[in-house]
Amino acid sequence: MDFKEELKHYQKKINKELEKYLRTNNCLEGTLNESMEYSLMAGGKRLRPILVISTYSLFKNDLEECFPYAVAIEMVHNFSLIHDDLPGIDNDDFRHGKLTNHKKFNEATAILAGDGLLNNAYIVISNDLRKMSKINSKELEKKLKVFNEFTLAVDRMIAGEYVDTEYEGREISTEDLQYIHENKTGALLKLCVRMGAILGDANDEELEHLTSYAEKIGLAFQIKDDILSEEGDEKVLGKPVGNDKKLEKCTYVSKYGLEKSKEILENITKEAIEKLESFGDKADFLRGLALYIESRNK
Ligand code: IPE
Ligand code: IPE
Ligand code: MG
Ligand code: MG
Repeated sequence: MDFKEELKHYQKKINKELEKYLRTNNCLEGTLNESMEYSLMAGGKRLRPILVISTYSLFKNDLEECFPYAVAIEMVHNFSLIHDDLPGIDNDDFRHGKLTNHKKFNEATAILAGDGLLNNAYIVISNDLRKMSKINSKELEKKLKVFNEFTLAVDRMIAGEYVDTEYEGREISTEDLQYIHENKTGALLKLCVRMGAILGDANDEELEHLTSYAEKIGLAFQIKDDILSEEGDEKVLGKPVGNDKKLEKCTYVSKYGLEKSKEILENITKEAIEKLESFGDKADFLRGLALYIESRNK
């Protein structure tokens, strides 16, 4: 399979898995369930679950073992997007080429749909842990470590979002800009790779290399997001272009300009790929993902 085919294959697998967790509309909170489904199934790239599964597959073949964690992270990601689009944060009307959750439903529903997805992620993980508890204490210990990292990464994402909003319209230092990116976006992407590696029983050295790879693609991902917000094609992107400028967001583009940002992006992508050297051919898909993050147009 070439990279694009493999990417599509993973996306299909994840969508099928996510469908298992959708809830009925046939109850008093039916519209809330509908709004959670609306965002979760709106057509995201599924990059985070793909990172979990493809990292895990460096080590093991029984991919279903990591599915609950792949599903959970996509739920948290969609919670973060619903809240990020709210009037009190980025105030955006479109995402994935469709109305944002609060525009399609209303603000109260969108806030609660975000809360619901966040908590659903914890339900999914805790169900996996419950299943484990009588089987094997070493496996349980490993999964508890993953769960702990999961909660800490979500904490960092929320902190990064907060600092991002605090800095609107202000000058920012290089360190603080890096802090926003590392937290609001980098933390979850790093978590995905680390979850895949830890669940796959990576050794310390492997985990270290993969963590450095993840840190690099995490930063690259947000720099590219900043570039796309400046010069992307709104129809392809499915979300507004020019909104960072409108809100006077501190981004790589506002700090360094487009050309320099692209140069930084190219260098970080190269560095990310270098971190995979010791994994040989089996890391080709992760190399492809780094290049995809650099070249994506949505
Ligand atoms: C967008 O993430 C939000 C950021 C963290 C920059 P994605 O580009 O991965 O979102 P999807 O693909 O629409 O889910
Ligand atoms: C979103 O960052 C990050 C999170 C939701 C945690 P942005 O606000 O830069 O992303 P888009 O451009 O709305 O997707
Ligand atoms: Mg934002
Ligand atoms: Mg936004």
